[in-house]
Amino acid sequence: MDSILVRGGSPLNGQIPIAGAKNACLTLMPATLLSDEPLTLTNAPRLSDIRTMTQLLQSLGAEVTSLQDGQVIAMSTHGAVNTRAEYDIVRKMRASNLVLGPLLAREGHAQVSLPGGCAIGARPMDIHTDGLAKMGAEIDLQDGYLHAKAVGGKLKGAVIEFPFASVGATENILMAATLAKGSTVIKNAAREPEIVDLATCLRAMGAQIDGDGTSTIEIQGVDRLHGATHRVVTDRIELGTYMLAPAICGGEVELLGGRIDLVGAFCEKLDVAGISVTETDKGLKVSRKNGRIRAVDVTTEPFPGFPTDLQAQMMALLCTAEGTSVLEEKIFENRFMHAPELIRMGAKIEVHGGTATVTGVEKLKGAPVMATDLRASVSLILAGLAAEGETRVARVYHLDRGYEHVVRKFSGVGADIERVQGE
Ligand code: UD1
Repeated sequence: MDSILVRGGSPLNGQIPIAGAKNACLTLMPATLLSDEPLTLTNAPRLSDIRTMTQLLQSLGAEVTSLQDGQVIAMSTHGAVNTRAEYDIVRKMRASNLVLGPLLAREGHAQVSLPGGCAIGARPMDIHTDGLAKMGAEIDLQDGYLHAKAVGGKLKGAVIEFPFASVGATENILMAATLAKGSTVIKNAAREPEIVDLATCLRAMGAQIDGDGTSTIEIQGVDRLHGATHRVVTDRIELGTYMLAPAICGGEVELLGGRIDLVGAFCEKLDVAGISVTETDKGLKVSRKNGRIRAVDVTTEPFPGFPTDLQAQMMALLCTAEGTSVLEEKIFENRFMHAPELIRMGAKIEVHGGTATVTGVEKLKGAPVMATDLRASVSLILAGLAAEGETRVARVYHLDRGYEHVVRKFSGVGADIERVQGE
C-alpha cells in the first residue's frame, strides 16, 4: 500500500485549482437513472469514489464514459435496467445508496445492499427508507439488501418531514419525487450546496423543483425527464482543506474557483483564528494575518454551519494555536480517529465523547501515522506540513477516494511531499 511522505516547515505560495465536488458528483451520477436520454457532467473530479459509482451504474445497465481525462462523464441509461445494486460494489462506498430513489422512481422496484463507507459511525438509512415508505414504497431488509417496491408500480407524492436534515436522504427523496405521481414536500431538508447543485441539474432535465437551498423543498412530479449537460459545483471541502495549508504553514495561496458562499461558517472561524481570506477574480486568497494562530471553538452542524467534513483538518490547524480550542462533533459519532494520531505528533488533545479539547503546542513533530477515513488522512498531511521533521501517512487509499492529485496540488505551492509506492 502506498504512503505519503511529508517534510514540514516550508511556507506555501502560489495557486491551487479546486476540483468539482465529489459529494455533488456522487449524487448527480445516479440521476442518469431517471432518464432514457444522455446526462453529461463537466468539471467532474478524478477520484476513486467516482470510479466506484461508475462501476455501480454500469452494473445497473447505464453506459458511463469518462472523457477529457475524467473531467467529463457522459452517461446514458436507455432501455431496461438491472435493479439490484450488489454488495460487492456498494460496500466500497456509502453514497451507493443514492441509486435507491432513482431506481424506485424509474422501475417501481429495487434491491440495494446496505452500504459501507467511512468508519465514522453507524450511519443507518432509516430517514431514506421512512421517506420512501411515505411515498408508497414497501421496504424490507433481507440478506443485507433493502428490498423496495412501489405499491401500484409508481411512487406517489407525499409530505415528508425529516427528523434530521440528512444530506443523502434529501437527495434520494428529491430524485425519487421528480418522477412520482403528484407533489412531494420535504420538510427539514438538508440545505447543502450539493443539494442545490442536484436540483439545478434535475431542473435542467425537466424536473419541477422549488425551495432547494432552504429547509422546505417542493417537487411536482413529471412523467419523464430528458437529457442535460451540467457543470459540477466546486468542492467546498477540498477548498476548505487547501485553505488551511497556508494558514498552517505560512505564505499566501490562491484557491482557484473558490467561493466564499460555499465556506461561510468556516471562514468566520478562520477569521477568529487570525487568518485572512480575500476574494479575487479567480477565487479566494488565504494567508495568516500576523503572529501565531489563535484558538477557536468549533461545533459541526448541517449547512450553513461548520461542516463535519472539515473538522479533522481544522483540528490539525488548532494543534499549534495559542490557547485551548473545543471542537464539538454533532453530525457523526466516532469522528475523532485522527486525534490519537495527532497526539503521536506531539499534539495535546483530550477526547470525551463528541468533544475534543485541543491545547495548542508551539510545534508538532513528524511521525509515522495512519488514517482510518478520508478527511482524517488529509488532516494528517496538513499536520505533517506544519511539523518538524518527516511524517509518513499510511493507508493512502482513503485519500484517493476524495482528493485528486493531492501531491501535485500541495507540491505546486512549495510543499515538500511525495507519494511512496508499495510501503
Ligand atoms: C453526506 C456526505 C458526507 C458528509 C455528510 C454530512 C456524501 C456522499 N457524503 O453523507 O461527506 O459528512 O453528508 O454532511 O454526500 N442518519 C441517520 N439515518 C439516515 C441517514 C443519516 O441516522 O437514514 C444520520 C447519520 O448516521 C449521521 C447523520 O445522520 O449521523 C448525517 O448523515 P447524512 O447527512 O445522511 O450524511 P450522508 O448523506 O451519509
